[in-house]
Amino acid sequence: MTTNNSEFNELQKSALEHLWVYGKQPSQMAEAGEPNIVTSGSGSTVTDIHGNTYIDAMSALWLKNVGYGRKEIADAAYEQMLEITYMPSGTTTKPTIQIAQKLSEITPGDLSRSFFTSGGSESNETAIKIIKAYFKRIGEPIRTKFISRIGSYHGATAGALALGSSPNFPKTDYEPLMPNTFHVPQPNPYRPIVQGLSDEAYAEFCITSTEELMKAQNPDTIAAVFAEPISSPMGAIVPPANYWPRLRELCDKYGCLLVADEVITGFGRTGKMFGVENWNVVPDIMTVAKGITSGYIPMGAAITRKHISDAFIGNDKATLQHIITFGGHPVATAASLKNIEIIERDNLVENSRIMGEYLREGLRGLQEKHKIIGDVRGLGLFCAIEIVKDPDTKEYFDESANLSKILTSQLSENGILLRAGNITNIAPPLCVTKDEINNIVESLNIALTAFEATI
Ligand SMILES: Cc1ncc(COP(=O)(O)O)c(C=O)c1O
Repeated sequence: MTTNNSEFNELQKSALEHLWVYGKQPSQMAEAGEPNIVTSGSGSTVTDIHGNTYIDAMSALWLKNVGYGRKEIADAAYEQMLEITYMPSGTTTKPTIQIAQKLSEITPGDLSRSFFTSGGSESNETAIKIIKAYFKRIGEPIRTKFISRIGSYHGATAGALALGSSPNFPKTDYEPLMPNTFHVPQPNPYRPIVQGLSDEAYAEFCITSTEELMKAQNPDTIAAVFAEPISSPMGAIVPPANYWPRLRELCDKYGCLLVADEVITGFGRTGKMFGVENWNVVPDIMTVAKGITSGYIPMGAAITRKHISDAFIGNDKATLQHIITFGGHPVATAASLKNIEIIERDNLVENSRIMGEYLREGLRGLQEKHKIIGDVRGLGLFCAIEIVKDPDTKEYFDESANLSKILTSQLSENGILLRAGNITNIAPPLCVTKDEINNIVESLNIALTAFEATI
């Protein structure tokens, strides 16, 4: 769909007046001619209201795993809408059962029972409540403390917000937060907080720090550790290979639960169906959202291992008292089933692995030319680069250098939608082609060259 400028101007004016655009100032958006309005998409690309087509190099927010414009998903949702669109209390629907079974089949180990939600924050909030109630059910009611990692993000709602600790999402406006949450270092090999260690030794240092916190707090009071297999806010932090197995061991040693927040990493993003499969670890609870429907419709889940869900089975008193109205909505679950079918049928997990390697190869080629690329990292199509003033000191450019503005606008002029900056996440849809990756890399080359000309 293309439109005339007056319609666009009216819509944009209305957006600036009536819409809360995440983290943006209306005045700055007005000055920059934002927000742009997208009207259609296909594969890795979106088309805006003016008819311009761009590659979405971030899969929106790491979620368009199967890409845009999959009519099959729209058809599955439509057909479900014609059949039944909600369920009277105490009943359920066919696709809701089928997706619960499917998740049990494709997740590792005995992760086998799903509580459905409308998104990632609710999935983590649900996990927090399941964990608190679980320890009450099994006679360990003093396990009420949660540990997560510095630099992580787990969502916007009260509990999930308290678990997060990312400088990109300051929490001071919302204090006081959920008590009994503690943050430990996570292994970021590019920016270790202790120098001179091998990557593995640094991961072990992070495990020891976590253990010390547990001991200081009394390990019998620790309920769970929440962690993303690969963490996004500081740019695709891939932990050394020993980290996740050691985290699993640590939780087992002290009897607390391990939650893998797979909201981004689930459904093929890292080159495996789930991120923890990169290290053969089975968490006690896995939280998912985003890629579960590739963003065609809101949905999430907290998936529990059998010993956890079994604690809620037996009598009325054991029941988990927790409801999310739209959790397990039949239209969402029908869309999710089709989405997962496409991921499997089109080998998108494998494509994520192969194209991810190809993308990083291209980015490392850029690093040769542009010394300001301090680091290239990632797994599958969950990638990031860090841009630094000096690769030795790893110091970032000051805001006055306008790095983000110059790179982002240059990329957009070259047909790539990507919010670039000191830390630039790059995560195109899992159906991305080699040509599209070449295009992303070449556009970054042009944008970096333009920025370098200003310094
Ligand atoms: C790792 C992680 N967990 C949880 C969330 C929250 O998900 P939502 O925004 O769907 O509530 C996000 C969102 O980006 C995320 O990246």
